Amino acid sequence: MHSSERPRAEYIRSTFDRIALRYDLLNRIISFHLDTYWRNKAVNAALRPGARSVLDLGTGTGDLAFAAARAIGDDGRVVGLDFSHEMLRLALGKQKHDLSGRKTMYLQATALAAPFRDASFDAVLTGFVLRNVSDLTLFFKEAYRVLKAGGRLAALDMFPPSSFPFSFFYSLYFHRVMPWLGARIARDPEAYRYLSSSVRGFHSPEDVARMIANAGFIDVRVRKFLNGAVCLLTGNVPVQH
Ligand SMILES: C[S@@+](CC[C@H](N)C(=O)[O-])C[C@H]1O[C@@H](n2cnc3c(N)ncnc32)[C@H](O)[C@@H]1O
Repeated sequence: MHSSERPRAEYIRSTFDRIALRYDLLNRIISFHLDTYWRNKAVNAALRPGARSVLDLGTGTGDLAFAAARAIGDDGRVVGLDFSHEMLRLALGKQKHDLSGRKTMYLQATALAAPFRDASFDAVLTGFVLRNVSDLTLFFKEAYRVLKAGGRLAALDMFPPSSFPFSFFYSLYFHRVMPWLGARIARDPEAYRYLSSSVRGFHSPEDVARMIANAGFIDVRVRKFLNGAVCLLTGNVPVQH
């Protein structure tokens, strides 16, 4: 990681360390439980038939990793990587109670220098992480590097919706109600102000799709939910790379 990116990465890591305990509950409340539906869509998009090895970048409390573990065969393996110790601690706690937990393992590291050999995974997943990453070009380059030829990337995130009137009501909810909920439930208004401002200042899904294509992925697609407030971006590694 470049030295100028460290303070931002450190701020993000400590923010997630602080909100880890309330993260799952707030996710369900804020998204009206739709986050589970979107995660399943991402898993279905990432897993080709026969996929056995999956990497979840920025796994947090592991929900996307568990969804992937439920979807792959018994001989499949899912690695969840995150730089927040507290988020991973919760993922490990859930691992014991999830039937597919034995197919998952967790690792504390940065996604910008993933500690894996080239061409290690059939699929790379990432959910609600992109907005927090200081260098998206490097992030997608790493995802590409660790994927096998023919491997798939599925990236889920929140974006500022553009069409009125949805964008108006969304803005009201996301920038007023969400920080209020964050203050009440997670008792951390600053963290939830950060999360809503990270969406406001984020790229368009089309810009992110271009970054994915620039990293070498082909067949890059954007699927929009809720008027583009949540998008699923997918791309494939060419069979000969
Ligand atoms: C909003 S949470 C998403 C967690 C999970 N993927 C989900 O779907 O609920 C973002 C996670 O990304 C992690 N993260 C952000 N930047 C990272 C990086 N450069 N390397 C590793 N983890 C990162 C944070 O620590 C946090 O746990």
